[in-house]
Amino acid sequence: MIRIIITGNYSDMSRKAANIISAQITLKPDSVLGLATGSTPIGTYERLIEQYKDGDLDFSAIHTVNLDEYQGLTRDNDQSYYHFMNEHLFRHVNIDLNNTNIPDGTQTDTEKECERYNNVISNMGGIDMQLLGLGQNGHIGFNEPADTFSGGTHLVALTQSTIDANARFFKSIDEVPKFSYTMGIGQIMSARKILVVVNGKAKAEILKKLMCEPVNPMVPASILQFHPDVVIIADKEAASCL
Ligand code: GLP
Repeated sequence: MIRIIITGNYSDMSRKAANIISAQITLKPDSVLGLATGSTPIGTYERLIEQYKDGDLDFSAIHTVNLDEYQGLTRDNDQSYYHFMNEHLFRHVNIDLNNTNIPDGTQTDTEKECERYNNVISNMGGIDMQLLGLGQNGHIGFNEPADTFSGGTHLVALTQSTIDANARFFKSIDEVPKFSYTMGIGQIMSARKILVVVNGKAKAEILKKLMCEPVNPMVPASILQFHPDVVIIADKEAASCL
């Protein structure tokens, strides 16, 4: 079941999303949180950091598992998702870095890395709350439009539209990695709760497809219609086609 909360702007969206995550942490201090990158959740992380600094949150027993990582980027590359998570959340709160997990983008043995990451997720006992952004083509994590829904962690060839969308973070489009490790749709769907943040006009059409059109692997996020507990927080621009 999908519940949608429409907010006035990005800042309200971020505050509401952070409040939901912070309730999860308060109710279950040893939660496993599935985390996302991209520009959308940055404000959510900023709010969580504020709540931590105010003494309202304790991350010491939290475990995290990230959705995805570019293949070929080292951890110190400022476009790696490892770097992103440190910059936007981990280094600002009392999380134990040993309890954080991100696919290893430097691993060239794809099968080995996917198996390792699948084991990481299953050994944690599954994900309590998964935070998601939404790609403009409907991807979640890096699960691109495809003929079928994926199950576990796998390596994805990024579509041209994703490469183009992500080029803004790189010096030139040639530097955008062409492959990424991502958690599979099956793993995302196994999360007990899912929280999606969406903002801006550019996401309005795809949000409508996610919510209103038949479930279809060409819109990977549409599978969320089959999950029992999804909350989408959208700003009014993203919700403008609903
Ligand atoms: C990226 C990430 C996704 C993210 C999406 C949207 O490529 N792999 O996890 O949700 O694209 O990004 P943004 O929030 O910057 O629009």
